[in-house]
Amino acid sequence: MRDKLLALKEEALRELGQVQTLPELNDIRVKYMGKKGPLTEILRGMGALSAEERPIIGQVANDVRAAIEEVINSKQARFDKAETEARLAAETIDVTLPGRPAPQGAVHPLSKVIQEIEDIFVGMGYTVEEGPEVEQDYYNFEALNLPKNHPARDMQDSFYITDEVLMRTHTSPVQVRTMQRLKGGVPVKIICPGKVYRRDDDDATHSHQFTQIEGLVVDKHIRMSDLKGTLLQFVQEMFGKQTRIRMRPSFFPFTEPSAEVDVTCMMCSGSGCRVCKQTGWLEILGSGMVHPRVLEMAGYDPQEYSGFAFGMGVERIAMLKYGIDDIRHFYTNDLRFLKQFVHV
Ligand code: DAH
Repeated sequence: MRDKLLALKEEALRELGQVQTLPELNDIRVKYMGKKGPLTEILRGMGALSAEERPIIGQVANDVRAAIEEVINSKQARFDKAETEARLAAETIDVTLPGRPAPQGAVHPLSKVIQEIEDIFVGMGYTVEEGPEVEQDYYNFEALNLPKNHPARDMQDSFYITDEVLMRTHTSPVQVRTMQRLKGGVPVKIICPGKVYRRDDDDATHSHQFTQIEGLVVDKHIRMSDLKGTLLQFVQEMFGKQTRIRMRPSFFPFTEPSAEVDVTCMMCSGSGCRVCKQTGWLEILGSGMVHPRVLEMAGYDPQEYSGFAFGMGVERIAMLKYGIDDIRHFYTNDLRFLKQFVHV
């Protein structure tokens, strides 16, 4: 029995000497130390031994078990240590490495221009209003002196939802909504930025959805010179102190008289170039004195009150300011385009 035990020890130590991996070590642990292993098997046979032999063989068996266990434990410790070291090496952080830059977002150029225009008018005492994009025919046309079948409705091809509801074709309905809300109160001094919709074919300068900013001032004694001074102040803050304006007679059903407003071309400072078609001027907005009928329909007595209004296309202003040649760039969200506005 003693020989069997010693042979077993020999065998176990030899196998342990060849162990390379933790699973192999575990296999050996199970094989020799487990309940069904040879050591347990031998010890079970001890009952057949004489009373003198039993403690001696018991001692040998314990020694064999202890010897095998010791080698297993030391191997286990070595594996544990190697694993810890490998993990530490893998998790090492080099605090001296430069950081990975987090990509920085930017305000969309249209939002930027809207904010800039808002800032300028807020600085002149205006408040910023909003109105619905799905609008009633009444506010979009009728209350702006554009009755049904008025030929000027053709200027703004519309997306109708029902006979009486459409996507607003301009921000002018907010004029009416604001005056109605103020119930004859003055001063009315608002601007209104927002999206508008027209049945246009998209190309480099047209889009079926674009952005406008509307302006409206109503009070006693508002004159055309107030409109002119306000717009001059605006364009000089927007495009630079040297900018001048030119007002050309025009027609809008909701203003009388009406004027289209040009600014000195910022590409050539007015000397004439491709952008301004050699005229030195660029059209940027429509404007005029609020039509007495519009005031009346909104609850203001045109004998007592007068006002001016204007409306401009934000895309056009952004295109002129940044030299953008295709309106579609604003909507396709190509990062190569948008990234150019991170620092402007
Ligand atoms: N609503 C006009 C358009 O979309 C622009 C406009 C012209 C607005 C004259 C005004 C204005 O307030 O007075 O074509």
